[in-house]
Amino acid sequence: MTVLAIDAGTTGVTALVVAEDGGVLARGYQEFQQHFPEPGRVEHQPEEIWQAALQACREALAGAGRRPTAVGITNQRETAVLWNRRTLASPRRAIVWQDRRSAEVCRTLAGQGHEPRVAELTGLRLDPYFTATKLAWLAEHDPAVWREVEAGRVAVGTVDSYLVARMTAGREHVTDASNASRTLLFDITAGAWSEELCALFGVPMAALPRVVPSYGTVARTDPDTFLGLDLPIAGIAGDQQAALFGQACHAPGDVKCTYGTGSFVLINTGAEPVRSSAGLLTTVAWGAPDGKLTYALEGSIFVTGAAVQWLRDGLGIIGKAAETEPIARTVPDSGGVVFVPALTGLGAPDWDPTARGTILGITRGTTRAHLVRATLEAIAFEVRDVVDVMTSDAGLDLRCLKVDGGASENDLLCRMQADQLGAVVARPKVRETTALGAAFLAGLGTGLWSTPEEIATTWQLDAEFTPGHRDDHAYDKWRLAVEKAKGWAV
Ligand code: G3P
Repeated sequence: MTVLAIDAGTTGVTALVVAEDGGVLARGYQEFQQHFPEPGRVEHQPEEIWQAALQACREALAGAGRRPTAVGITNQRETAVLWNRRTLASPRRAIVWQDRRSAEVCRTLAGQGHEPRVAELTGLRLDPYFTATKLAWLAEHDPAVWREVEAGRVAVGTVDSYLVARMTAGREHVTDASNASRTLLFDITAGAWSEELCALFGVPMAALPRVVPSYGTVARTDPDTFLGLDLPIAGIAGDQQAALFGQACHAPGDVKCTYGTGSFVLINTGAEPVRSSAGLLTTVAWGAPDGKLTYALEGSIFVTGAAVQWLRDGLGIIGKAAETEPIARTVPDSGGVVFVPALTGLGAPDWDPTARGTILGITRGTTRAHLVRATLEAIAFEVRDVVDVMTSDAGLDLRCLKVDGGASENDLLCRMQADQLGAVVARPKVRETTALGAAFLAGLGTGLWSTPEEIATTWQLDAEFTPGHRDDHAYDKWRLAVEKAKGWAV
């Protein structure tokens, strides 16, 4: 038996066919276009996401040569997608999680004193990152589309909901609790949409998807629209929560970090939502078929891999991301250079949309190698920032950080990370942990695996990095530089 997993990420869709032993039999990948209509705005064409998903699945299925028994979905979170319930066509492009256009909506609501109540109900904060702020912007700036939403002809959802709608030929409009918990409309304690929040953001409750468990069969794919396959859709989770599951972080205190465009550190906090006093988000990790929720604390760092991309595309000082390791190794340290990659403001734990990228400590002796090394150091420092807050908020000692995603390939970064955290950094054999998590959820939901414990036995270590000397002086310099990066774009 095998499971098909679809990971609809921010820049492309990955599909994996996963076997019972947790091994990846085949994969497919298809990028789609990013639209930047104005500075600070990021949009996706939903149809392109759907076509990319079909293409990635075709590739993976052809490679596996076996018919899967279930499908799991994971996705970029928070992105607001709209589609016509009958035709499934989208009346406009999706507003992506990175899009900052709803900053004014947030300022207004915060100015009216709503932030504490919103945080209490959702575990989140008033930031343009989250879906409801984007929907409130739409209601004001795209009234024609919004009238269709209010009339019930146009559905609202995140990328998971949209894919399920397409895969079921419009029969299902669902989402899981992990995705719902990123919208600012979901009461994470009650485990249900909040009437109060829907009223605050002006979102009709009837436009929202039905919330279903993160594992267990919720629908069947329509063979006419989904590659001739009639399969149970049996796993749904937001990508960072899926990665937590895929890393077998099933017990309270287990922590993972996924290095992607940004980096997202999540700690499983079990059956109780743990509140952060220092800038972390409280979120739903996954919802069980019996309605019980597992929670996580999350540190969302917006720019990490994107800083490496900027070295490549903006500065042109590296040819590809993999070069960062050999280049950085040509120097013993960053030569006093500190780079704060606040290229789209700062997320956790500093949360300053007006911060901007800052490079300090440049001398006549500074070379590209120093800057490249400073970029890797910055990633390690950013992760330490959130882990430090996390361990104090959750009251736990970090024993081990499981890492995955693109930059986890970089041994030097993993070593720097272990040193800065003073904890072991463990890298699994399968680094596409997000998609793997979706496969595990779907497999758990259909009996391929019977318990999370059984799934955990498939987790295999690739490399472990034990902490060495921790340079606290360098970290103090980093914190000083972060302060200097703040408030620049006001
Ligand atoms: O919250 C945003 C996150 O879900 C995006 O993840 O990997 O698609 O960049 P990714």
